[in-house]
Amino acid sequence: MSKKITVIPGDGIGPDIIQSALQILDKAGCEFDYEMVDAGLTALEKTGELLPAATLDAIARNGVTLKGPLTTPVGEGFTSINVSLRKQFGLYANVRPVTSFKGTKARYEDIDIITVRENTEGMYSGLGQITADDGSYAEAKSRITRAGAERIVRFAYELAKREGRKKVTAVHKANILKSTSGLFLTVAREVAKEYPEIESAEMIVDAACMRLVMNPEDFDVIVTTNLFGDILSDLCAGLVGGLGMAPGANIGQDCSIFEAVHGSAPDIAGKNLANPSSVILASIQMLEYLEMPEQAARIRSALADVIASGDRTTRDLGGSHGTTDFTQAVLDRLAD
Ligand code: NAI
Ligand code: MG
Repeated sequence: MSKKITVIPGDGIGPDIIQSALQILDKAGCEFDYEMVDAGLTALEKTGELLPAATLDAIARNGVTLKGPLTTPVGEGFTSINVSLRKQFGLYANVRPVTSFKGTKARYEDIDIITVRENTEGMYSGLGQITADDGSYAEAKSRITRAGAERIVRFAYELAKREGRKKVTAVHKANILKSTSGLFLTVAREVAKEYPEIESAEMIVDAACMRLVMNPEDFDVIVTTNLFGDILSDLCAGLVGGLGMAPGANIGQDCSIFEAVHGSAPDIAGKNLANPSSVILASIQMLEYLEMPEQAARIRSALADVIASGDRTTRDLGGSHGTTDFTQAVLDRLAD
């Protein structure tokens, strides 16, 4: 029986780029059975809910989800759908790899960095949110748990081991945020001792930003807390040509959600202009997670070839074609 995958087309450019990824997965012979469900604005318009129960059921039942970007309505008391999904399904690890592809307009050529971001704690835990009635102050709590820090750091080292990577850098701000970042760093040092075969480094987050821009080759796997990971992974996307090239996997014990790092891009939605590479790369991450390395490698090579040759590429890659032409160029290379 073929593996069932939950697919959320999403909002804005979501349906177009997801369609592109599904065509490519099919052409590469993956033979998945897709269960299509709605979330975000699309779901709100149809059902009155951003995350309908049927969608949550499908995510839980099938375990693996491929998701387009979702629009969270602003200023109407809605909490971020992505934050809700991560919390609800315990998707504690956000794995964001960036790799250089020849033919993009990136400033560097040999980038290969994975950011492992803790996805449920820290500044995004949503605890203790207060805004004074008169607007004179606001506060929020950041919580780091020993168990949460240990789980994410161990995840990063296990990933490094599995993928034959050489170095894990723990990024923190323990000099100022002594309690929270301090606990994260203490735990990172403890876990590092269990992996003597992998080089362990630590770096303060502001210094890490400068180093990433000046000497990105110093980095291999980065492990960090939620807020720093959010920011650093976008910085890393910038090193390889922007958000159109950046995928992310949200991994939990029982469920995983694979997605593009970018949003629903309302400025180009419905215009056939989106670069589908981010979600194609997310599908490749999904295939690796499902232990289908051959299909993953075939798709990666077809995508790399299209970008390197400039055959029917999208505008953000320096071309003049649309999502459908770009997709067809990748499909053509998967033909036999
Ligand atoms: P965005 O990431 O949607 O767009 C930023 C800029 O990048 C825009 O100029 C857009 O045209 C461009 N861009 C993004 N993806 C592209 C692609 N594949 N090809 C070519 N150009 C691309 O960020 P923005 O505008 O701040 O957010 C729009 C909406 O997306 C918001 O409602 C936000 O809440 C949501 N969002 C959802 C995320 C998710 O579901 N994972 C993540 C980030 C934002
Ligand atoms: Mg972000």
